Amino acid sequence: MATHVNAGNIQGDILAGGLPKKTQTFIFFQIIDGKKFVQDLVELAPLIKTVEQVLKDRDDIAKHKKEKKGGLIKMVGVNISLSYTGLRAMGISDDKMAGTSLSADTGVFMGGAVKDAPDLNDPIVGGKPDWEPTFLGQIDGAILVAGDSHPTVEEKVRQVNAVFGNDSAHSSIKVIKSIVGDVRPGEEDGHEHFGFLDGVSNPLIAGFDPVVPGPAPIDAKFILTGHSTTQSDWTADGSFLVFRYLFQMVPEFNSFLDNNAIKTDPITSKPLPKDQGRELFGARIVGRWKSGAPVDISPFHDDPDLVKDPKRNNDFLFTDEFRDNNKCPWAAHIRRTNPRADSTRGVNANAIDNRRIIRRGIAFGPEVTAEEQSSGATKLGRGLLFACYQANINDAFKFIQKFWANNPTFPFIGADPLPGFTPGFDPIIGQAPQSTPREMTGYDPLTANDPSQAPLRMPNFVVPRGGGYFFTPSLKTLREFGSLTSA
Ligand code: HEM
Repeated sequence: MATHVNAGNIQGDILAGGLPKKTQTFIFFQIIDGKKFVQDLVELAPLIKTVEQVLKDRDDIAKHKKEKKGGLIKMVGVNISLSYTGLRAMGISDDKMAGTSLSADTGVFMGGAVKDAPDLNDPIVGGKPDWEPTFLGQIDGAILVAGDSHPTVEEKVRQVNAVFGNDSAHSSIKVIKSIVGDVRPGEEDGHEHFGFLDGVSNPLIAGFDPVVPGPAPIDAKFILTGHSTTQSDWTADGSFLVFRYLFQMVPEFNSFLDNNAIKTDPITSKPLPKDQGRELFGARIVGRWKSGAPVDISPFHDDPDLVKDPKRNNDFLFTDEFRDNNKCPWAAHIRRTNPRADSTRGVNANAIDNRRIIRRGIAFGPEVTAEEQSSGATKLGRGLLFACYQANINDAFKFIQKFWANNPTFPFIGADPLPGFTPGFDPIIGQAPQSTPREMTGYDPLTANDPSQAPLRMPNFVVPRGGGYFFTPSLKTLREFGSLTSA
């Protein structure tokens, strides 16, 4: 039987499309008075938006759109997550975490994101990840405030601060960094900074989300903690939040697309106009066109209507091309991060339900300026506040980054269907070890499966500058942390 989703007990960003947002502030903090903080969480609980409330928000938004009233409904939601050091600062001992989901991931959550960064091939400088100093220090928790506008979010942030104690001398927390993310303007609404529609494919939860054609729904236990055995524990209805502060080198990425535009039309074998060749190349490294249409369904031209149809936009498994790399390169970002049937067939067949993540990122930073575009060089910081939820960080986010995106031979492990062929790194997020070139093959449809093709060298377009591993507890646990600390 599918794990029951108790929508009133789960923080709202985790399921049902997450906190509705045009803007979102991430507040990273340290706990300075653990005892008070535990009491403050009881007061904070009524301010936390649950999945139940998100479902209602989504109905309200749909109704508002139908009535064509224009503008946005005033809407805001708060969620809170805690790191291992945060739980310890609250007085929760390792004994209380033993035997729960918090200790079930070979120490990845407890070790923390800084310790894990070298394992993800994040660049290291002076023995440390090349991150902003704040993220190298202790971060005990993250508060997410998402809403329709900056004033609505700012008003809510003030309310949240008041709960912990506005006066810095008496506050239970110290804010160490706030980052504001914003949905991009105009036509780019919902698109990340490289220009591709984001947030199209997320796992469906069995018995909870409406079923549409595509990858089969997964049990909620792969996203929610505390449900992996029949005996649930105090982590039940929680989830792990992985945050990555990812900067994107947009002008450099655009030059890369220009310089490597596909030259020949794969159907007619005639020369392809430069702009079309550029868009085709871009679509092949992501696995979707900028509109969000998947190349596996529409391989050689964009089809913006396709992505608007939820019954079609995820309805592919990479099944018809085991020996045919022409539709979607093996290294393409969406094939690497959710290989669908690539990993569920052959001798190494493995169900990948435990590798799925629910993504809730938002763009940050300004649009590219005319000067940046003409010089081809990034001057202003921008990128993705990447956030994802899962029941086990080691099995999901970390596995995807380390064993899929950063692994040039994936999915050809064991039985190699294309002898001598190396797909290469995920062109968007794949990170090579420091002295290894970042390369991919299969980008040109005409030579896509040819083992003798020259690999394409790729600079880094995504630069990690921080991160954090957090636990997002249920509402019940938020109110009852006191009982875990007193015993
Ligand atoms: C700046 C960095 C990133 C950019 C620009 C980016 C961009 C995209 C885009 C455009 C899509 C396709 C649309 C969609 O299905 O939402 C996508 C899908 C996806 N990305 Fe990323 N992404 C980034 C980082 C990451 C990271 C760090 C991970 C995990 C390690 C990740 C995992 C995924 C997954 C799982 C999918 C869905 C694949 C599917 O189910 O088809 N992405 N990303």
